[in-house]
Amino acid sequence: MVNGIVISGVNKLFTNTQNETVTALSDIHLEISSGSFTSLIGPSGCGKSTLLRLIAGLIRPDNGTLALDGKAIEKPGSDRGFMFQEHTLFPWLTIRDNIAFSLRAQGIYREMSSRVDEFLELVGLKDFGNYYPHQLSGGMCQRASLARAIVSHPKVLLLDEPFGALDAFTRMNMQDELLRIWKERNMTMIMVTHDVDEAIYLSDRIVVMSPRPGRITKILNVPFSRPRARSSNEFLRCRGEILRLLDFGGTVMEPEFYL
Ligand SMILES: Nc1ncnc2c1ncn2[C@@H]1O[C@H](COP(=O)(O)OP(=O)(O)O)[C@@H](O)[C@H]1O
Ligand SMILES: [Mg+2]
Repeated sequence: MVNGIVISGVNKLFTNTQNETVTALSDIHLEISSGSFTSLIGPSGCGKSTLLRLIAGLIRPDNGTLALDGKAIEKPGSDRGFMFQEHTLFPWLTIRDNIAFSLRAQGIYREMSSRVDEFLELVGLKDFGNYYPHQLSGGMCQRASLARAIVSHPKVLLLDEPFGALDAFTRMNMQDELLRIWKERNMTMIMVTHDVDEAIYLSDRIVVMSPRPGRITKILNVPFSRPRARSSNEFLRCRGEILRLLDFGGTVMEPEFYL
């Protein structure tokens, strides 16, 4: 049995509102080993969310196969959790009940109810279980979404720009929290991000994608150990390489600029 996620020869087409066919993903081959942290990065429309939704089993490919631990992915399952940019908490439920909802939906609440408090504590919301989402900040709501996504112990957590709406400082705190939970819980994490620094700070591997058709252009290993200093030379070198791959590398100044 192959451990982790194996994606081979995946194509996904959509029909847009003008009735034209859009190739959201073309010939995707990717292997993601279990327990690793992978980021998907690339401009809007290159198929990042489509790839996550395929792994989640929310949609099916037109060609090719996806498998998790040797088992074909055909539909959503409790072995995969999902977290989005905007929290999807129910406004009429408390934070505790939002997290419990995930266990109730799977029919495992009765034997697992103690996990709700464990996970409230894990994400730093121990004293906020009885609050409603509108009473908490955006960062706290994302912590609650994270707890809800992982309370049923999925093998894989899929994150679609989870910190995109947060301010820069909250975002950096959340990145540290996510790394801590990733290490503690030994989960496979796959994150879509537009933020090059975030990708380098968190990931074992960074998958660079480009649009029309959506495809993988490069897979980079981030070779240096954690915790990573965001201003170290190796970090900046890696940043420069990714920005060049994304065509944001800038140009070299012409000699006539100098006297
Ligand atoms: N449900 C859909 N119907 C029609 N087109 C879609 C649908 N989902 C995605 N697309 C198109 O597929 C391409 C990839 O989309 P998406 O995966 O959302 O990209 P990204 O997340 O990288 O911004 C885009 O051109 C988008 O418009
Ligand atoms: Mg997207």
